[in-house]
Amino acid sequence: MYRTHTCGELRLSDKQKKVTLSGWIQRSRDLGGMTFVDLRDRYGLTQLVFNMDTDASLCQEVRKLGRECVIQAEGMVAERSNKNPKMPTGDIEIQVKRFSILNSSVTPPFTIEDESDGGDELRMKYRYLDLRRNPLKNNLLLRHQMAYETRSYLNSQEFIEVETPVLIKSTPEGARDFVVPSRVNAGQFYALPQSPQTFKQLLMVAGYDRYMQIVKCFRDEDLRADRQPEFTQIDCEMAFVHQEDILVMFEGMVKHLFKAIKGIEFSSAFPRLTYAKALEKYGNDKPDLRFGMEFVDLTGSAKGKGFSVLDSAAYIGAIVAPGCTEYTRKQIDELTDFVKKPQVGGKGLIYIRMGTDGSVKSSMDKFYTPEDLLAIAAVAGATAGDLVFVMAGDKIPTLKAMSELRLEMGNRLGLRKKNVFRPLWVVDFPLFEWDEETKRFYAMHHPFTSPKPEDVQYIESDPARIRANAYDCVINGAEVGGGSIRIFEEQLQKKMFKTLGFTDEEAKRQFGFLMDAFRYGAPPHGGIAFGLDRLVSIFAGEDSIRDVIAFPKNNAGRDVMADCPAEISEEQLKELSIKVVKL
Ligand code: AMO
Repeated sequence: MYRTHTCGELRLSDKQKKVTLSGWIQRSRDLGGMTFVDLRDRYGLTQLVFNMDTDASLCQEVRKLGRECVIQAEGMVAERSNKNPKMPTGDIEIQVKRFSILNSSVTPPFTIEDESDGGDELRMKYRYLDLRRNPLKNNLLLRHQMAYETRSYLNSQEFIEVETPVLIKSTPEGARDFVVPSRVNAGQFYALPQSPQTFKQLLMVAGYDRYMQIVKCFRDEDLRADRQPEFTQIDCEMAFVHQEDILVMFEGMVKHLFKAIKGIEFSSAFPRLTYAKALEKYGNDKPDLRFGMEFVDLTGSAKGKGFSVLDSAAYIGAIVAPGCTEYTRKQIDELTDFVKKPQVGGKGLIYIRMGTDGSVKSSMDKFYTPEDLLAIAAVAGATAGDLVFVMAGDKIPTLKAMSELRLEMGNRLGLRKKNVFRPLWVVDFPLFEWDEETKRFYAMHHPFTSPKPEDVQYIESDPARIRANAYDCVINGAEVGGGSIRIFEEQLQKKMFKTLGFTDEEAKRQFGFLMDAFRYGAPPHGGIAFGLDRLVSIFAGEDSIRDVIAFPKNNAGRDVMADCPAEISEEQLKELSIKVVKL
């Protein structure tokens, strides 16, 4: 038997027990007559003690061992004279009588401690060592628990988990596909699923009215902190439902997770914001509701004083930074530089400083009297001691830049707390998005999303104004889930493909199987998919989903540990009838 107990298990109540532990040497300390070794496994740390007076040879042996060596130790549980209240096993130690080396270890390239000295790249290269560290271990345990609770909730609601294929025909979800060449069908390719979207709809046609799957999805897109090329969805679909049924069911799931994992109860329903309102108030379709600072539209109230920046603007908006009147010139300059960054896209930043004594000062006081400024500040909802930021320009870019400024101010004022959670639903997304470059409409969610019945009439005359039965679940400024009620009638689906610029042949080639299925009694249906990685990272308080994935890719989409993607042999290429031509 390698062990009688784990390294996180023994307590004072086990005093005098003879035990055997196995694990990794976390650290060892020689204190003259004694050597202390912290032995680690997944469950925790236990202190081993070797006594030079009574077991000299054992003590000398263990002193030779380095960190991360794997040993088995036998001994007696004893009460510690110097207790460590920070460790669950801190009241006891094992007085070792025998030990054996199960495996040695070369010196690891970084320390296996909570605060490691290893840089990002190094830790990715030796991910199996990084995974020994508590922060990552705790994230993986959390991830397991969340997947377990998700299945438990959905199972209690009659969902069944059905696996769908990984080698599929391309499904457009807005990103590029990863493709896989077929050996037996030379010159032809599978795609890896961007999501199981078409399959879950086919399962509805097949009569499995509540489907779920915790499933890997693959998207060849530019990577960010919250995007990986392969990620995991909690993918769900239901038949005989309206949008409301889905929102209630999955609000239930999110609430269950918060209750079961974090002990947090949300007594009221999640707020719902329309896409249009979210843009108006936060400049963003995934607003962070942990703090206010909502935008106020000044377009109708701040013009007409000869200041061309405002007079010529299609949109003027204000954000009130509460209690920030003491912001220095330098701080305001920093924020001005921030909004002007190309990725933020603001043209500039105007301020109105509301003194605590009722005075007012502004970067536009050449054009506006104190009375004018106080009137504008009053419309913005500012009071004494506040700082008002005003931005102006074309509407959408200005709203987007204001959104970045709002989030930046939220960070600076410490308002985006990791242990505060503000979920909401964003609803009524537009069905289509116009792309100036290609001069065509794209489906904002995906081509199977249904329009609001009252808006269907505009499908030929004015597609841009059609709202979709689509919804996102947002927590703390992250889109954690998205879905829609689907089109289930063949004719409407055909119209949708037409608006998206598919010819009949293209639609048939790509989605013929789905269109065919719809002719055999497709029930009304809809669904949603949550990003498991994003949900876990929010619960874990991590900024990047990489920290909740066992073996993630780096920012360039590489697995630096296995060093892939990599070239394949001539032999393999030949079998696949592929010739690589570097362009
Ligand atoms: P959508 O594309 O909105 O919907 O994806 C659902 C959720 O998956 C997560 N997500 C990602 N997480 C990490 N890395 C990525 N690259 C990534 N892309 C998406 C997000 C997102 O909210 N088939 C539809 C769902 C449906 O209509 O039912 C779909 O995939 O959290």
